[in-house]
Amino acid sequence: MTRAVCPGSFDPVTLGHLDIIGRAARLFDEVVVAVGVNASKSRLFSPEERLEMLRETCAHLPGVRVEGFTGLVTDFCAEQDAAAIVKGLRAATDFDYELPMAQMNAALTGVETVFLATSTGRSFVSSSLVKEVAALGGDVSTFVPGLVLDRLTARLAERAAARD
Ligand code: PNS
Repeated sequence: MTRAVCPGSFDPVTLGHLDIIGRAARLFDEVVVAVGVNASKSRLFSPEERLEMLRETCAHLPGVRVEGFTGLVTDFCAEQDAAAIVKGLRAATDFDYELPMAQMNAALTGVETVFLATSTGRSFVSSSLVKEVAALGGDVSTFVPGLVLDRLTARLAERAAARD
């Protein structure tokens, strides 16, 4: 059994994430999508909301399960008996950010990081840009699953109402 961990903050999950998760699921027997719940960045969605959106949007993918994690991703990989971490690479900036983390993780426990090149049509899609564009009234319907779009629209409306 080959098992991989696909970690991220997923605030919220995008079609770019789902592309990587789906392709990882074809390479490994099992993929554990690991939602980092202790990151310091302020989030639009709570850990529970992010987990729920991922569970719903990954439900059709065989061999994929979604879990939350705190602490080191290497400890989570060891707990899950996963030999690999899967990350998507959109551009050189991603590589610059990811390479030292991959090397640190390998130095800590020997876990390998496998990079998948993002599909061309998704290379500019990120959770942060999706949130920014949506907050300014832009159409992000082609970048996130429908249920995420609904929740994003609702959350941004709540935030806007709270400011008024
Ligand atoms: O969506 P992101 O911001 O790329 O996700 C980052 C995440 C959660 C994958 C990363 O911050 C992480 O691995 N956090 C766990 C803490 C950890 O192991 N830090 C050391 C990395 S070398």
